[in-house]
Amino acid sequence: MCGIVGYIGFRRADRVIVSSLKRLEYRGYDSWGLAISDGGELKVFKRVGGIGSVDDINLADSGIGVGHTRWATHGKPSEVNAHPHMDCSGKIAVVHNGIISNFQILREELERNGHEFRSETDTEVIPHLIEEYMKSRDFEKAVFKVVDELEGSYAFVAVHAGEDKLVACRYKSPLILGVGDGEIFLASDVPAVLEYTNRVVYLEDGDVVIVDKNGFEIYSNGKRVERKAELVPWSIEDAEKGGYEHFMLKEIHENPRVVEDTLIEYLRDDIEIDAGFFAGISDILIVACGTSYHAGLVGKYLIEKFAGIPVRVEYASEFNYHPPPLSRTLVIGITQSGETADTLEAMRRGKKLGMKILAITNVLGSTATRVADYTVYTRAGPEIGVAATKTFIAQLIVLYLIALKLSAVPKRELEEILDQLRLMPQKIRQILDREDEILSLARRYAGYENIMYVGRGIGYPVALEGALKLKEISYIHAEGYPAGELKHGPFALLGEKTPVVACVVKDETFESMLGNLKEIKARDSKIIAVCDEDVEIEAFADDVIRTPAIDPILAPITHSVALQLFAYHVARLRGCEIDKPRNLAKSVTVE
Ligand code: M6R
Repeated sequence: MCGIVGYIGFRRADRVIVSSLKRLEYRGYDSWGLAISDGGELKVFKRVGGIGSVDDINLADSGIGVGHTRWATHGKPSEVNAHPHMDCSGKIAVVHNGIISNFQILREELERNGHEFRSETDTEVIPHLIEEYMKSRDFEKAVFKVVDELEGSYAFVAVHAGEDKLVACRYKSPLILGVGDGEIFLASDVPAVLEYTNRVVYLEDGDVVIVDKNGFEIYSNGKRVERKAELVPWSIEDAEKGGYEHFMLKEIHENPRVVEDTLIEYLRDDIEIDAGFFAGISDILIVACGTSYHAGLVGKYLIEKFAGIPVRVEYASEFNYHPPPLSRTLVIGITQSGETADTLEAMRRGKKLGMKILAITNVLGSTATRVADYTVYTRAGPEIGVAATKTFIAQLIVLYLIALKLSAVPKRELEEILDQLRLMPQKIRQILDREDEILSLARRYAGYENIMYVGRGIGYPVALEGALKLKEISYIHAEGYPAGELKHGPFALLGEKTPVVACVVKDETFESMLGNLKEIKARDSKIIAVCDEDVEIEAFADDVIRTPAIDPILAPITHSVALQLFAYHVARLRGCEIDKPRNLAKSVTVE
C-alpha cells in the first residue's frame, strides 16, 4: 500500500519521480504528490487520482526530491491528505508508506507545542517531529531521534529545503536503494528504478540511510553498516506493457515463459529443492492471503497426496486467533510480493515459536526472504497488474515441485508427472491460442451481476481463485464454493440470473461433480464447465471452456489460466479499470 520514491542526482528530479511513481502505481492510486528541493525552498505538487503525465510536470530544474502514490488508510483521498506532508515552516517534506500506530499521542503532544496540522494522516507527525527536533540538532540527527519515537510500520523519505540530501528509514515496510552512476534512488519496490539502474540495495528493518550526491551511508542501531548492492535480473521491459492493452493480459500471456523459467531453475535431472531443509518436520502450516492462500490450498492437496504430510492452511490475518503450530511444524509463507503485512506477521509468529520458516515469493530480497530460513523463488518477473496471474501459476509450479520432492510415490509415477509438468508451457500456449473462444464466452456472461464458481477436491481452490479474479477486476459478485456444499445453503442463490462456473476435473471427484451439475441445472442456472478437451461434458453444461488434456492432478494450472482469461475479458467488456481495480492495492503492507 502506497509507493514512495526519493531521488538525488543529475537528472530533473520531478521527471524521474513521476516516471518512477507510475511504476509504483499498483501499490495505491487514489492520490499522489511530490516535493522538489529548489534552492532554499520546496516546490510541492499534489493531486487526487492516478499519476499524471511526466510532460505536465515542471516544478523546478532540480535534482533532489521525493514522491508518493497513496492508498488511503488515515483520511480519505484528497489533496490535503495526499503526500508529501510538511512541517509548519514548509521546509521539511516527508513521504511515507506504513502506519504510525502511536500517531495520535505524538500529534497531541506536538499540537501542545504549537505545531499546526493540516491533514488527517498519521504521516504528518513525522515532518513536525523532525521540525521539533531540529530546534536542537541538525536534520540527520533529528531524523534519527524521530525514528526512536515512532511505533508501527514505516518506510519514509524526508527532504529538508536547502540541504542536498535525503534521509530515509525502513521499519516493517519495504524500501530499496537503487544505485546509479552519480545518482541514487529510493523506492518501495524495484520496478520504480529499473529504467535507470538494476543495482539495488535491500534495506533492513531499522536502517536509516543518508543519501547525498556522493553516495549513501546506512546506519543500523546508530552504527554505520555496509549493505551490498545486488544485481536484479529484471529489465525495464519486464515492467512495461509491451504492446498489450493491460498489464494483466500481458502477464497472463507470460504464463508459459514463467513456467519455463521456474522449471529451469528447480527442475533439471532432479528437483533442485533442498530436501534436507524439510527433514524432521511433522506437519506443515501454510500462511498466506488472497491468491497466495488459494495456491496454498492447492499445495495442501498436493503435499498430503504425494508426501502424506498433514498440511493446515490459514489466512495469515486469521492465524493469530488459532492455536500455535506444533514444535516440528514447518511454516510456509506464500507471498508474491514478500511484503504482505499479515503474512509476514504470521511467519514471524512461527519463527518466535521456534518453527522452521520457508518463504515462497517472487521478490528477491523482500522482507519474507529475511524472515524465512529458506526461500524458494517463483521466477515470474515483476507483476504489475493488481490481479495476481502469472505469479499464482508460478506458485503452483513451485508447490508441485515441493510436494513431489517430498513424495513417496514410485519413481516411475514421479517421472510421468514431471514429464507432464515439462509439457505445461506448451499446454498453456494452447489455451492462450484459444483466447477468442474465451472472449466469445465472456460476451455471453459479462452482463450478469452474480456468478458462482464451484469445484471439488483439487478443483475447489481453482474455483475460489477464479471467483476472486472475476470479482476483483469486474466487480461482479462472484463466490467460490465446494460443489458439494451448494445444497447446504448457496442453492438458495441459484437461478437463471446466477450462472455457475464449474471446474470439472476427471479424477475421483468427477462422478459426484456430474451429479452436482445436474442439481444446478434443475435450478435453472446456466453452467459454464471448465474441463479438459478429452472429457465428455457437453450434456451437462451450457458452455464449455476447453483446456488441453493433461494428468488431472495438473488441472489447477491449465484451468486457472483459462479462468484468468475469462475474468480479464469479462472485466474488459464491462469497461473496468483492469490493472488498478477500485479500493485495492497490489501490496497490502498494513494489517
Ligand atoms: O503479495 P501477496 O501474494 O502476499 O499478496 C496477497 C494478496 O494480497 C494478493 O494475492 C491479492 O489477493 C491479489 N490481488 C489477488 O489477485
